[in-house]
Amino acid sequence: MPLLTIETTCDETAAAVISRGRDVLASVVASQEKLHARWRGVVPELASRAHVERILPVIDEAVSRAGIGKDAIEAVGVAVRPGLVGSLLVGLAAGKAIAAALRVPIVGYDHILAHLYACRLAHGAAVKDPCVGLVASGGHTSLFHVHGPLDATRLGGTIDDAAGEAFDKAASILGLGYPGGPEIERVAAGGNPRAHRLPRPLANDRDRLDMSFSGLKTALRYRVRPPGIEPPPLVPTGQDLADLAASFQQAAIDTIVAKVDLALDRTGCSAVMVGGGVAANRLLRESLEALGRRRRVAVFVPPPSLCTDNAAMGAIAWERLERGDDDGLLLDVRPGTDRAAANRPAGLGPSA
Ligand code: KG4
Ligand code: ZN
Repeated sequence: MPLLTIETTCDETAAAVISRGRDVLASVVASQEKLHARWRGVVPELASRAHVERILPVIDEAVSRAGIGKDAIEAVGVAVRPGLVGSLLVGLAAGKAIAAALRVPIVGYDHILAHLYACRLAHGAAVKDPCVGLVASGGHTSLFHVHGPLDATRLGGTIDDAAGEAFDKAASILGLGYPGGPEIERVAAGGNPRAHRLPRPLANDRDRLDMSFSGLKTALRYRVRPPGIEPPPLVPTGQDLADLAASFQQAAIDTIVAKVDLALDRTGCSAVMVGGGVAANRLLRESLEALGRRRRVAVFVPPPSLCTDNAAMGAIAWERLERGDDDGLLLDVRPGTDRAAANRPAGLGPSA
């Protein structure tokens, strides 16, 4: 019997149906990219309103694509942190309502650990703990010492912008669309990554696993419009644009790869797992694979569709359910369980 997973942490409304054996029977993602493109970033209030409109159709679509009836759902998993609070609440409310109606348990899971879990979904038993985990997304860029699916110690990460956020802002500076990562990657393909020497703050600091991207972003802005020069802004085009995008992308990726290298030194791990939207970037994937070959460590990266936000990675909820404790349990109204009594609102009869 399968698990229904729900993901509404930011600007994707997603649901998936996953068997106990971790087969993804269906995975549906309704992207809000078009909604936020005009603002070149996620507007939290718009995001939560769009989640309200889309969450039930997305869940219905996932259940129908899985070829099951709702009655077949055995449990619900929902991403409960971190994220935009208004967006999180929509997924949580929908999940709890479904769990209560179907009388199945619902567990919360961590979105960041779920990004790493995408590697286990894609590569199965080949992924061996412990390993270094990198999550690079629009909201987070962190390194972990990963001991198991639910057990990761944060080693360091960005002290200012997340890597994905820097890509989004850089795209905006260059007059490109949103989300910025894929746009920068597209334009950078025709550019020279050595055309502009952009800074890589903290990248060479071997004492810290911290990263920084805001200075890189500012440096790019000053290349496009040197300080003191007032609007009209100069929007780069043609080869100039491609060179700027390629130089930015190279600097951001160099910073990340340098810190993964340092994390491998610090932990002595012989494997790296990577997740989050920025892990869809080809230069990052290739650079990490090159690092893996040089250091003889295994590098696990999910396919791009499992890097950006999705509910299939919510398969991590199975790990919580199979552990059999109450950790992460949000509601359990299965008849005959003690928890059913604990969760029953005061004043309702025994059959409530
Ligand atoms: O993991 P994700 O879908 O959402 C969050 O949890 O934040 O990551 C979205 C971020 C955005 O900032 C987007 O620009 C970036 O991932 N991204 C990329 C690429 N695809 C998405 N960054 C660089 N290269 C890409 N190909
Ligand atoms: Zn994410």
